Amino acid sequence: MKFLFVTDLDNTLVGDDEALEKLNQLLSQHRQEHGTKIVYATGRSLALYRQLLTENQLLEPDALIAAVGTEIYYSDREDEPDPVWSAQLSVGWNRDVVVATGANFADIVPQPASEQRPFKVSYFVTERAAEEVIPRLESLLKERGVDAQSIYSGSKDLDILPRNSNKGLAVQFLRQQWGIEATRTVVCGDSGNDIALFSVGEPRGIIVGNAQPELRQWLKANPAEYRYLAKADCAGGILEGLYHFGFLS
Ligand code: GLC
Ligand code: MG
Repeated sequence: MKFLFVTDLDNTLVGDDEALEKLNQLLSQHRQEHGTKIVYATGRSLALYRQLLTENQLLEPDALIAAVGTEIYYSDREDEPDPVWSAQLSVGWNRDVVVATGANFADIVPQPASEQRPFKVSYFVTERAAEEVIPRLESLLKERGVDAQSIYSGSKDLDILPRNSNKGLAVQFLRQQWGIEATRTVVCGDSGNDIALFSVGEPRGIIVGNAQPELRQWLKANPAEYRYLAKADCAGGILEGLYHFGFLS
């Protein structure tokens, strides 16, 4: 039966070439035979996604969720993000105020220009500074009337996004468009920006064996039978989870 396969890229789908080749082959066959849909959900901008494509053998996805869920691209309209989704994110968002507020904090360093997007402002922050700085930044943004959320990943990346967007909400948007149930959806990830994939609705979830501490901690606090912590890393862990849930047999 057809299902919706959603995966993060860095250190989830990508990282073990041999396992990736096997997974690609099985997914590609499943898509051909059953109409299974393949979606990548990445923190990368479209530019950095394209760079990754030059370095790895990836299947062409049916949709690409980029910039931590703030942009959705389809294979037949590659350069223009879904305008309906973008319009939803504009409500309550003010990018200029986020940038000006961020500039008050010496401990947060802006990421490269390619990763600064219309609905995503990104910084590098050490783990030590993060604990103290993020709550202060959040409350200042609230005071200034910006409806934002902060997402911390891999003990270094801090993304500020509109409240109503993240990877999980973007997947929900696609599910509604395509008419696919959460129970026929499987999401895979390794780090903080993937938590929303697992927590929006109740999709089947695969946490790869090499997951970051922030995701492991979250899983410990939010265990469920539809969330599976794999033993193997990266694509090997994804394969393990797909068999565990019976999406592959
Ligand atoms: C990717 C993006 C970066 C983001 C990080 C975590 O590495 O390029 O901008 O901060 O994912 O979401
Ligand atoms: Mg990742």
